[in-house]
Amino acid sequence: MNERIVLITGASSGVGRDAAESIAARGYTVYAASRNTSAAYGERIRPLKMDVTSPDSIRSALDVVDSEFPGCGLYALIHNAGTVVPGPLECLDENLFSRHFQVNVMGVHSLTRAALRMLRKGNGRIIMIGSINGRIAKPYIGAYSASKFALRAMADAWRMELEQWNIHVSMIEPGSIKTPLWGKARIEMQGLIETLDDAGRENYLSSIETVMKAAEKREGRGLPAARVVKSVIRALESDRPKASYLIGASAVIQTCLASVLPRSLLNRLIISQFGLSGKRYDS
Ligand SMILES: NC(=O)c1ccc[n+]([C@@H]2O[C@H](COP(=O)([O-])OP(=O)(O)OC[C@H]3O[C@@H](n4cnc5c(N)ncnc54)[C@H](OP(=O)(O)O)[C@@H]3O)[C@@H](O)[C@H]2O)c1
Repeated sequence: MNERIVLITGASSGVGRDAAESIAARGYTVYAASRNTSAAYGERIRPLKMDVTSPDSIRSALDVVDSEFPGCGLYALIHNAGTVVPGPLECLDENLFSRHFQVNVMGVHSLTRAALRMLRKGNGRIIMIGSINGRIAKPYIGAYSASKFALRAMADAWRMELEQWNIHVSMIEPGSIKTPLWGKARIEMQGLIETLDDAGRENYLSSIETVMKAAEKREGRGLPAARVVKSVIRALESDRPKASYLIGASAVIQTCLASVLPRSLLNRLIISQFGLSGKRYDS
């Protein structure tokens, strides 16, 4: 059987959903994995139930692919599922902090390990959706940034370890994208505010509100998901896929600034971009 099978995680919305549709339209058979499989997809897309934080769920999902296309293997594995729970680091308890790592880092590790046999079989490649926040940390999304930094480190290590089997590992590193992610993040932030004690409210409430307003403005200027999908397809089809695809002018500018500015000045710029200058930071 000569099927080119692509498995993409987090395909129920945003970038993952657009990517699944665009990749299927190019003739691939796409397994669209997510926890919620109620989304209606076009032809050549097979919804696949998978929670990337559960090794059992990962195993069952891969068994489905293997049984529907026995011996075919995977042409590509696209790690796109991601989560963000914004909030000052002091206000994130261990559960909220580690949720980023369970989905954005450990989920990628577990699924990659479990899929390697199929990737070797299909001469496959791996694509990971990182973020500019995995190169430059931001306040009030520190846990998310930390997880995307970790993902970037892991992508580099996987790339070097898997080179001997010709399994390429590419990272897509976009700036802000217009997707439901930040709407979900706002709901999480609202939930977090409700759990703050008196000291938490006194220390952070006004800053959180300022940051949320600044984030809403930035969100409106986010990249269309299609722009990110274009690079995913490049990484999928190129004979020599790049290690990293930095997407959008904002991501490129931030990376350039980070390479030339002293860290203290870069931090100041980011603080002011988040609407936080003039607060206690300047005293
Ligand atoms: N939006 C941005 O500004 C931006 C910028 C840079 C990078 N990114 C990255 O782009 C990727 C896609 O995000 P998006 O913006 O398209 O957000 P999105 O619309 O919220 O999509 C996130 C996807 O992840 C899935 N997901 C979450 N937890 C999961 C779990 N435990 N197991 C399996 N799937 C899970 C969600 O599906 P279910 O809830 O149905 O499982 C959903 O399909 C993420 O890795 C994100 O970090 C986004």
